[in-house]
Amino acid sequence: MQKENLSNETKVSLISELIEKTKSNHSLPFYNTNEIFVPGVGPLDAKIMIIGEAPGREESIQGKPFVGRSGQLLSRILSEQGFDRATLFVTNVVKYRPPNNQTPTHQECMAWAGAYLRKEIEIIQPKIIITLGACATKTFLGEKISISKIHGNIFETANYKIVPMYHPAYLLRNSNMIKDVKQALNNAKEIHTEIVHNYVDNLLITCA
Ligand code: URA
Repeated sequence: MQKENLSNETKVSLISELIEKTKSNHSLPFYNTNEIFVPGVGPLDAKIMIIGEAPGREESIQGKPFVGRSGQLLSRILSEQGFDRATLFVTNVVKYRPPNNQTPTHQECMAWAGAYLRKEIEIIQPKIIITLGACATKTFLGEKISISKIHGNIFETANYKIVPMYHPAYLLRNSNMIKDVKQALNNAKEIHTEIVHNYVDNLLITCA
């Protein structure tokens, strides 16, 4: 169940508490004193949340998600499709860099989703969640799902819509798929515009 709208102040304090609590949870997969905890970044009232897999080397140095080569490609595609990355909340399922950049198993992703991501979503309260790649997509839609079969489709839940997309690391190796991601982003943009219009209409009705 989604909570009532939370104020920015409440969100700041809930996120800080969650980060501190999770940092001291040494039983989570990839807990490692040599790697930095990389939390989500962006406005706490963002309507769109982008979720990747886990920090890579550059992210673990800077303590921010998607700042390496994949992140640069992501920023470029977002901006070419008319999105300002600074208005989106960007995060990962797993918050520590896995050793040797190994791919987290579904069980490891689910452990992180239960301990952190679920609460992070409850606090940010996004309306659209874009999952990048298999780890994030399977975390929401189940282990059996194949990203290539559902890429760009829209999945409705009670509180938000999910739009799965290819991971930018995959796009670095398969640039011919970038056009599919751009199309999926256009779909996400249409839903976003609809959400904003409904929000403004409701405000006008309330003010009338
Ligand atoms: N890949 C991810 O999934 N997340 C990052 O932050 C960077 C690369």
